Amino acid sequence: MNARELVIRRFTHEDFPRIRQALLDIHGDAYADAMDDEFNQRFPWFVDHWGGNTDFACVIAFDGEDPVAFAYGAPATPMREWWREHLKEAPERHRTFSYSELAVRVKYRKTGTAELVTRALLKDRDDDLVVLLVDTGHPRVRTLYESWGFRKVGERQPFPDSPVYAVMLAELPLS
Ligand SMILES: CC(C)(COP(=O)(O)OP(=O)(O)OC[C@H]1O[C@@H](n2cnc3c(N)ncnc32)[C@H](O)[C@@H]1OP(=O)(O)O)[C@@H](O)C(=O)NCCC(=O)NCCS
Repeated sequence: MNARELVIRRFTHEDFPRIRQALLDIHGDAYADAMDDEFNQRFPWFVDHWGGNTDFACVIAFDGEDPVAFAYGAPATPMREWWREHLKEAPERHRTFSYSELAVRVKYRKTGTAELVTRALLKDRDDDLVVLLVDTGHPRVRTLYESWGFRKVGERQPFPDSPVYAVMLAELPLS
């Protein structure tokens, strides 16, 4: 399996009701070994929150008709960007896209699919920056993001029951 054989489709807030189940299914597969974690069990709430944003942007990779990976996010609210409290000065250009979630079905791991959906999501955006959160307990995933040009600027724990996350920032377009 090579990621180049997958077909990328783009979706918006208007499409959310018809892609919601595909997002839940991919997430369920990708996090199958971590679903005893109550925070992961709250994914339906989070996906509805993001999908309910009128500027929601989502990319899904399909193998034939089967959805196998997704990447989604939405523009950050100015002054409330995840990087804001961690930088002494805001970058001159700082319109920011919050990259909320990435998941790849286990069968499609290590095929370049994660990078494929990430670059497809971020390509052609007119934001200046992209920010994401990665569990500090998942250093290999952080290394993956670093290989795409992200750097850690701080840590945050958005909810009392959520993991502590590394805040990772990159300029757009990705190099
Ligand atoms: C993260 C992800 C998209 C990367 O897919 P990929 O590019 O095919 O790469 P891999 O699956 O090989 O993951 C890269 C490394 O991160 C590790 N990793 C991936 N997901 C992880 C997780 N949830 N927890 C801990 N480690 C994880 C892998 O074991 C791998 O380590 P290795 O390089 O030592 O083999 C995919 O692993 C996935 O969907 N994971 C579950 C969901 C997730 O963690 N999303 C990221 C949220 S920030």
